[in-house]
Amino acid sequence: MNLDRPASMSSFWMPFTNNRDFKAHPRLLVSAEGMYYRDVDGNAILDGTAGLWCVPCGHAQPRIVAAVREMVGQLDFAPTFQMGHPAAFDLAEKLMEFTGHRFGHVFYTNSGSESVDTALKMALAYHKARGEPGRTRLIGRERGYHGVGFGGISVGGIATNRKSFGPLLTGVDHLPHTHNLEQNAYTRGEPSFGAHLADELERIVALHDASTIAAVIVEPVAGSTGVLIPPKGYLKRLRELCTKHGILLIFDEVITGFGRMATPFAVDYFDVEPDLMTTAKGLTNGVVPMGAVFTKKHIHDAFIDGPAGIELFHGYTYSGHPLACAAALATLQVFEEQQVLQHAKSIQGYWEDAVHSLKGLPHVIDLRTIGLIAGIELASKPGQVGARAFDAFKTAFADGVLTRTTGDIIALSPPLLFEKQHIDELFGKLTKVLKHLN
Ligand SMILES: Cc1ncc(COP(=O)(O)O)c(C=O)c1O
Repeated sequence: MNLDRPASMSSFWMPFTNNRDFKAHPRLLVSAEGMYYRDVDGNAILDGTAGLWCVPCGHAQPRIVAAVREMVGQLDFAPTFQMGHPAAFDLAEKLMEFTGHRFGHVFYTNSGSESVDTALKMALAYHKARGEPGRTRLIGRERGYHGVGFGGISVGGIATNRKSFGPLLTGVDHLPHTHNLEQNAYTRGEPSFGAHLADELERIVALHDASTIAAVIVEPVAGSTGVLIPPKGYLKRLRELCTKHGILLIFDEVITGFGRMATPFAVDYFDVEPDLMTTAKGLTNGVVPMGAVFTKKHIHDAFIDGPAGIELFHGYTYSGHPLACAAALATLQVFEEQQVLQHAKSIQGYWEDAVHSLKGLPHVIDLRTIGLIAGIELASKPGQVGARAFDAFKTAFADGVLTRTTGDIIALSPPLLFEKQHIDELFGKLTKVLKHLN
């Protein structure tokens, strides 16, 4: 394993990266343990973002490492098309328990993007299977992020992720986003203003007619667009309207799933029941790529009660990969043994206080928190949206903390096993960074 600088960095075309800037000023991580990365120069970097929101239990959890090692020696690969292996079935049962049996079935993918495309396809095929093939329209939301597949960017609402890729899926509409700093700045938990924005679905239904709409997809808390927390009552209202019009509701829980809200899923936090739920990331503690789509029983049964034969012509070579299943089973054990959710709950108040202590620092125009998530919104430099937060990210990294930015919002999402001393270190360093930010 190379722990030194690579001889050349020119061939790897890096994703979602300013390649030219990065290669001129690289940030290279070579190892990780617990709450810290180590960079190529040997510096410890406190992980304020759980990798990319995907390492809830911290790095190098011995149980997960051992489970993956054991599985690779025993069953390196097995197809799940027309055959199976025990771990894939065992994991599905354990996942039903982890969701509190809110869902009846789970379909494996390899990423959040694949989970989203899978859920959208299931929604379309479900209506067709029940005799309503005209329900083909998909409704997303402005500022939504649902990965980078054509389905995901079509229902997603981030212009930079859409504008270069042609007409995308047809028959898509978008709800308005719910972000409103005039009304909701500096909130802890759900802001009070904006539940009425769910009623915009009525306008969309009036325009297209409910009989043409298959599904609404939203992130319960939008992460990649800069931590947009749903207004009180918004998600419940969306559920009511979907039920009223026979539209499926999909929650994209790729970042909120597996404990981010100090509950198993955002579904539990908000007590709202979607028909389908997309997940990935924390499912394997980020160790092996894996995603999963959870469905209510009625979705699954609409296929299973259909004609004999393959019920759903969909799946991935690596759906239910043995290493991913081993990592996920071990992750669920770690959640239980190390009381990960209970720990997250116990530090949530301390986390919120630390975030809100940044109020009044230069350029800070909003601080918002929910679960173990924080959004720190900075005023943009005129004509240079994103430049200020990206400067903060670079300085923070040089000072030994990993943050993440989108536009001029710094998003924080630490491993759920963060201790108070880690929170102190993170916000001590961030305060210094923000004080000196241009
Ligand atoms: C809500 C949501 N959906 C989907 C995705 C895409 O996941 P992936 O990058 O694993 O494809 C992400 C990634 O951050 C996400 O936040």
